[in-house]
Amino acid sequence: MLERLKPEVRSILGKEGAVEDRLKSLCTFLKTEVPHYDWVGFYFRNGDKEELKLGPYAGAPTDHTIIPFGKGICGQVALSNANFVVPDVSAQDNYIACSLTVKSEIVIPLFVNGKNIGQIDIDSETPDPFTEEDERFLEFVNAEVAKIL
Ligand code: SME
Repeated sequence: MLERLKPEVRSILGKEGAVEDRLKSLCTFLKTEVPHYDWVGFYFRNGDKEELKLGPYAGAPTDHTIIPFGKGICGQVALSNANFVVPDVSAQDNYIACSLTVKSEIVIPLFVNGKNIGQIDIDSETPDPFTEEDERFLEFVNAEVAKIL
């Protein structure tokens, strides 16, 4: 199901123009194509600071444009370098709510030359929708993004 989206992911990222614009198109594409992706965005390390800064995204605007390392699901992934799948956000202590309609979340770190430089973050209004297929697909997406950064 997600496999079929791969050629378009490559095509969007291979277009001409600013990287920011391509990433924004990618977020919009993923949010539109995958029914359980309700908010799709990138966070990147903010310079040398121990914090993440919101990059391109598709979905409702969020107040959480800066997230310190260690805070929330995103901040934890900045430190752990590991995928974080949250089937039920209400069961998490260290969670930053962006919208009360969000039920679940997945965050996949983005590596450039082996360094964790950011992440893709997806919120869902569906409870427990994320499978290993999402993890493998989003690892693919991040690997493709890494090529243009
Ligand atoms: N829920 C995230 C914060 C980012 S918003 O989902 C856009 C977290 O706990 O880190």
